[in-house]
Amino acid sequence: MVTEQEVEGLGQRLVDPQKPLQARFRALFTLRGLGGPAAISWISRAFSDDSALLKHELAYCLGQMQDSRAIPVLVDVLRDTRQEPMVRHEAGEALGAIGNPEVLEILKQYSTDPVIEVAETCQLAVRRLEWLQRHSGEPVAQGPYLSVDPAPSAEERDVGRLRVALLDEARPLFDRYRAMFALRDAGGEEAALALAEGLRCGSALFRHEIGYVLGQLQHEAAVPQLAAALARPTENPMVRHECAEALGAIARPACLAALRAHAADPERVVRESCEVALDMYEYETGPAFQYADGLEHLRPPPS
Ligand SMILES: [Fe+2]
Ligand SMILES: [Fe+2]
Repeated sequence: MVTEQEVEGLGQRLVDPQKPLQARFRALFTLRGLGGPAAISWISRAFSDDSALLKHELAYCLGQMQDSRAIPVLVDVLRDTRQEPMVRHEAGEALGAIGNPEVLEILKQYSTDPVIEVAETCQLAVRRLEWLQRHSGEPVAQGPYLSVDPAPSAEERDVGRLRVALLDEARPLFDRYRAMFALRDAGGEEAALALAEGLRCGSALFRHEIGYVLGQLQHEAAVPQLAAALARPTENPMVRHECAEALGAIARPACLAALRAHAADPERVVRESCEVALDMYEYETGPAFQYADGLEHLRPPPS
């Protein structure tokens, strides 16, 4: 049992900008695991921080907690144009992840936001909520990953056909996302390579999600493409960030070299991602289980 004082201590660590980022992330993951109104309130307070990396992870965690009490703060973040696109994106996605249809109207409103990542995120979240409404009461097929995804995995199982759907830029983003999650669930080298091809597709939002999924899949075959995307200075920082975290999760020696090469990147969110990813690398290769409470998406699927 965790006492009120312990929650308070975790919250204080999370909101303290003097504390190392890794320590703040760990406090966040523990709060996420605990859940409840006090945890939500501490997580909400940290949106006044100036690290986009930390703030986007706050929104991600609030979405994964699937507690409707987090809706007001997430709506505020989505509306706040002073927040970085990556943070507003994650708030929109979290509103879809919670699964409460009361946010449909606001998500529709932001589906035409001038920031393309935000608009596309809200379009996807609307499609997810509408899909949930159509399939309510049906048993949910639980894949090998525990994350609440922005789209349900496609029913198609053939990796070749999923690859075609994934890379077809004429198809709706929602359908391509469904193919993406089905490829992840399928696993294996062929699926990893198909996903890695997606790192060259048109939408930055789509590419960043590919990075995220490759981090979950943890297949070594995608390392060269992930390292190349991380190294591309013209790539959207949100994409480079996700590739860095994926490399940290795959945790092979080639990943370490790529992460070290960008540990002083001029782009803050990339630099901080490499810092956190190197810390995770130590976790994946070392005996300590510091990340036991968090970064579910960066951990191996339960067997
Ligand atoms: Fe994201
Ligand atoms: Fe991210």
